[in-house]
Amino acid sequence: MRPLNEAALVAASAFSEDERAAVYHAITTRRDVRNEFLPDPLPEDVVGRLLEAAHHAPSVGFMQPWNFILVRDAEKRRAVWNAFDRANREAALMFEGERRDKYRSLKLEGIMTAPLGICVTCDPTRGGSAVLGRTHNPRMDSYSTVCAIQNLWLAARAEGIGIGWVSIYHETDLKEIFGIPDHVEIVAWLCAGYVKELYEEPELAVKGWRQRLPIEELVFAEQWGERSR
Ligand SMILES: Cc1cc2nc3c(=O)[nH]c(=O)nc-3n(C[C@H](O)[C@H](O)[C@H](O)COP(=O)(O)O)c2cc1C
Repeated sequence: MRPLNEAALVAASAFSEDERAAVYHAITTRRDVRNEFLPDPLPEDVVGRLLEAAHHAPSVGFMQPWNFILVRDAEKRRAVWNAFDRANREAALMFEGERRDKYRSLKLEGIMTAPLGICVTCDPTRGGSAVLGRTHNPRMDSYSTVCAIQNLWLAARAEGIGIGWVSIYHETDLKEIFGIPDHVEIVAWLCAGYVKELYEEPELAVKGWRQRLPIEELVFAEQWGERSR
């Protein structure tokens, strides 16, 4: 084994053109999936690769605050769907008029059709009371968990697996279903399954809910509000 203080640097040149193209292809064609799941079960080794991808995410102070509960059991997924349904009815009432009708017309989950559910959690106690880098903003642990989810999402795209992120539920409902301790935060319910087709653009854009913003409006130079040329 290398002594701890000996540098462990390895070569890190740019990827080949094909490798780069593959990375950007995964990024730009990744979609949130609600309807297109195939019922075929996901092989264990493939699920393992997705979880390894997630586990290679950056995390504040190398905290790795995540856990993943893999849920295939249909009864458990039905309980999650019930929790979604209750919250989704409440959510619809938060929009007015036509927008409410539009909201109700959207499908916002694939909990029962995707063969695998993954409950992704964040344990704020992992790594002790003071975590390097999280000393002044405790939310950094959730941000780290989101990085893990994005890694999984992109790896899934490369594997031909669709992921749908569901966040419409009372956290307490899911905690009860899965026996999740009080101090642990639920970050996502992910629906996972093979897909044959994906929307070319975000489904919410295709269905007229909201469009992608022009990137020029979002990039500033040197100072808040200063448009970058
Ligand atoms: C934090 C987070 C929570 C989300 N929650 C939901 C959800 O509850 N239901 C849903 O249909 N989509 C959900 N989405 C998916 C977004 O609607 C989707 O990412 C967005 O419309 C852009 O589409 P795309 O992911 O296909 O590019 C969520 C995405 C994120 C990042």
